[in-house]
Amino acid sequence: MINDLFRFKMKAMKVMIFESKIQAAQFTSQQIFNHIKSNPEEAIGLATGATMIPVYEEFVKLAQAEPIPLKNKYFLLDEYLGMNSLHPESFRNYIRRYFQDPLHLQDDQFIAPYEGDFSSVEESILHYETQLKSSHGISLQLLGIGQNGHIGFNEPGSKIDSTVRRVFLTESTRLANKAQFPHEEVPREAVTTGLSNIFKSKKILLLATGKSKALAVEKLQDKMWDSDWPATSLVHHHDFLLVLDKEAAERIR
Ligand code: F6R
Repeated sequence: MINDLFRFKMKAMKVMIFESKIQAAQFTSQQIFNHIKSNPEEAIGLATGATMIPVYEEFVKLAQAEPIPLKNKYFLLDEYLGMNSLHPESFRNYIRRYFQDPLHLQDDQFIAPYEGDFSSVEESILHYETQLKSSHGISLQLLGIGQNGHIGFNEPGSKIDSTVRRVFLTESTRLANKAQFPHEEVPREAVTTGLSNIFKSKKILLLATGKSKALAVEKLQDKMWDSDWPATSLVHHHDFLLVLDKEAAERIR
């Protein structure tokens, strides 16, 4: 049992604050595990990034301790344009490394909004949307948040009704992700699921850890949509849980 420091509600949004990053990650992985256990047929939306690495590591431990069927479809939020699944820095490869392979899951359980095997970006997006529809949407969407408030790669200025599309990354996002690209330029474009797709998820869990996320988290308190801070599109979602460590919560009033 992991105890949170604080728990409160801001409108529809529930907030939980943990002492440490690892406790917040453990709680998040337990939530995903419980959700999959009770909804073995439903589609799960997965995020990538540094924040999620301990979440997947903890999830693997939970699934090893208590094997459950993991037959769900898993939808990635985003992918760098032009990267195929074998590229070491692609999000698809990240998911293979931290989630798919340790859990022995099948390739056809994973759908990314951009997959290099298609002849065009449009075809890849169509495939993603078709799969999403046939899975009846996302049951639980896991999200991280960018320092500039992006979710998926919905950068500041994204429209609230945006759908799956090709986007340019901001310089601040490219800089934040530079450490993952020691030998090459950070890509300039990506394909992301849109804000409206994310909002349609039945449940949303956003995990933010570390001081660098505190400002973006603070913006969620204002309870109003602000296109400069795309994550504010979530504040009126009927089942939105915000999980924070103490550092990410330091600007919460
Ligand atoms: C990744 C994604 C992004 C990240 C965000 C935070 O699939 O959609 O929105 O969640 O950039 O990344 P980290 O965790 O590396 O700070």
